[in-house]
Amino acid sequence: MRKHSLDRWLLTAILMVLLSSSSFAAKNGAKKKKKNSKEVTYDGTSLIIDGKRELLYSGSIHYPRSTPEMWPHIIKRAKQGGLNTIQTYVFWNVHEPEQGKFNFSGRADLVKFIKLIQKNGLYVTLRLGPFIQAEWNHGGLPYWLREVPGIFFRTDNKEFKEHTERYVRMILDKMKEENLFASQGGPIILGQVTKHT
Ligand SMILES: *[C@@H]1O[C@H](CO)[C@@H](O)[C@H](O)[C@H]1NC(C)=O
Repeated sequence: MRKHSLDRWLLTAILMVLLSSSSFAAKNGAKKKKKNSKEVTYDGTSLIIDGKRELLYSGSIHYPRSTPEMWPHIIKRAKQGGLNTIQTYVFWNVHEPEQGKFNFSGRADLVKFIKLIQKNGLYVTLRLGPFIQAEWNHGGLPYWLREVPGIFFRTDNKEFKEHTERYVRMILDKMKEENLFASQGGPIILGQVTKHT
């Protein structure tokens, strides 16, 4: 991955995740460094995880397309196949089907899914959307979002950006609460917010 080929949005997103996890670390500065905590950085050549250049062999598993009972098997197969990283989209319309009413249970149990990946010793990259290209209804955007006055999707629109930010922060906070970022000892090494246009 060459630095100059990284899209500015992707960079912003990566930084957002790095910053939000490091500000978390700062807030908890009094405590000792978390067990297994890893520092994720990059330069013009590669990602660097805890000072080591890492080559990521990443495959996609979309958690809501299968059941939690199937996840351990699917993740094991991915590992046996030689992957060291699982990437998944985060499906906004699964997690917030009605505005302000959240669902993280059953096939929507993102935390459980990520913890299973962690148990298998693999990294996670989180593709937060908001729009997802995954043959998924409405591109992953909740239907209620259409009713927001003045909203235009996937463009430089105040309402769209405000709702996107609220959703992304909600997911990031949840990941932080569960110590799932690499800086907290978790498996998430990268996050990506999709370019809108
Ligand atoms: C939560 O989302 C999952 C996956 O879409 C769905 O199977 C389940 O019924 C939902 N739970 C509630 C309480 O809506």
